[in-house]
Amino acid sequence: MFTNVLERTARFGATLSSPLPVDAFVRLVDPLWSSTVCRARVTRIMRETPDAASIVLRPGRGWESHQAGQWIAVGVDIDGVRHRRPYSLTSVPERVDGCITITVQAVPDGVVSNFLVHQLQVGDIVHLDPPNGDFTLGSHSSSPLLFITGGSGVTPVMGMLRTLDAANIALDAVHLHYAASPDQAIFADELRRLAVRHSGFGFKFGATGTGPIPPELALTTRRLDALCPDWSARETWICGPAPLLAAAEAIWESAGISDQLHSERFQPSLTATNGTKAGIVQFLDSGVETPGDGTRPLLELAEEAGLSPKHGCRMGICHTCVVRLNSGSVLDLRDGRIQSDEGDFVQICVSAPCGDVSLEL
Ligand SMILES: Cc1cc2nc3c(=O)[nH]c(=O)nc-3n(C[C@H](O)[C@H](O)[C@H](O)COP(=O)(O)OP(=O)(O)OC[C@H]3O[C@@H](n4cnc5c(N)ncnc54)[C@H](O)[C@@H]3O)c2cc1C
Ligand code: FES
Repeated sequence: MFTNVLERTARFGATLSSPLPVDAFVRLVDPLWSSTVCRARVTRIMRETPDAASIVLRPGRGWESHQAGQWIAVGVDIDGVRHRRPYSLTSVPERVDGCITITVQAVPDGVVSNFLVHQLQVGDIVHLDPPNGDFTLGSHSSSPLLFITGGSGVTPVMGMLRTLDAANIALDAVHLHYAASPDQAIFADELRRLAVRHSGFGFKFGATGTGPIPPELALTTRRLDALCPDWSARETWICGPAPLLAAAEAIWESAGISDQLHSERFQPSLTATNGTKAGIVQFLDSGVETPGDGTRPLLELAEEAGLSPKHGCRMGICHTCVVRLNSGSVLDLRDGRIQSDEGDFVQICVSAPCGDVSLEL
């Protein structure tokens, strides 16, 4: 009823404010009210570790609820340029106060993560894309679970555990978590408290130092047998650095149970080098040209050339960034696939030019 009144008022306002959209006026009063984009106000910032912070956001109009484990693309303006990065939701879906949280770990030289952790202020406005991703528990909420996380990879799992806890589901779960040191272990205290409240939840923490995982902590079948003897009978979710995921994928594959392993990566593995060739990239719609060395994704090249292509995950999973190929060839940096047909849809976040290329962007 109230929404209907608002919608009718908005339509009447649109007539009065023509030729400018009413949205432009309303945004001046309340930036969260926009009918075209979803924005959120920062209501609280909590320091989790020296390099990580949880950010509480109050989304405005257009926000859709999420499933535990999903992520959102957060957009912030830094020095006049809009940057977007994906962050997992760490809050339970449909919190009573209507807020959501993300938890960000600053990475060395990281543009957005350092801004969010060290410069963002309560009251600031950020841009949000709808929740996305299939790293969710699905129908497995009551199954025996195993979680393996490293560093900031704990965030989607924290969202799942908080959601199970809030729903009063008795946890039958083991969580193996790695961080460089105890003071950099995000959520470690909360996870220990969860283990006290749920007798069926075991939390095991390993401090790895800043280099590769030490051999005595490395993920091996023997270590899994010691920490979680029935690991192969559990549905498993893993999120963390590439070597941790690679170790798990090899173990689960050799046990013949790869279908029980659900993985999420925060960084794509862009290693393909076949077809690498420098050339000129033409962005036809914007009339911009830029050189490419054949190894860097077209999305980065476009951004450096001053364009702001649409994108979400920046790692080839959401397809928000696809544009049409006009001429030339591009290399998918994940698997070495070459696309060269006019009209092909190219995921520019994971594709590099092979020589001269033109795109409808
Ligand atoms: C689905 C998904 C969910 C994510 N959820 C979270 C989350 O909940 N919390 C969180 O902190 N991050 C999360 N990330 C990572 C996040 O999106 C950014 O990649 C990260 O914050 C770095 O962005 P930046 O702008 O600071 O770094 P950039 O300026 O883009 O990169 C700077 C340097 O940092 C390196 N780098 C980029 N990302 C990482 C990374 N994740 N770890 C180490 N080095 C990196 C780059 O290779 C580059 O050398 C998620 C990523 C994905 C794909
Ligand atoms: S930004 Fe998600 S696939 Fe390219």
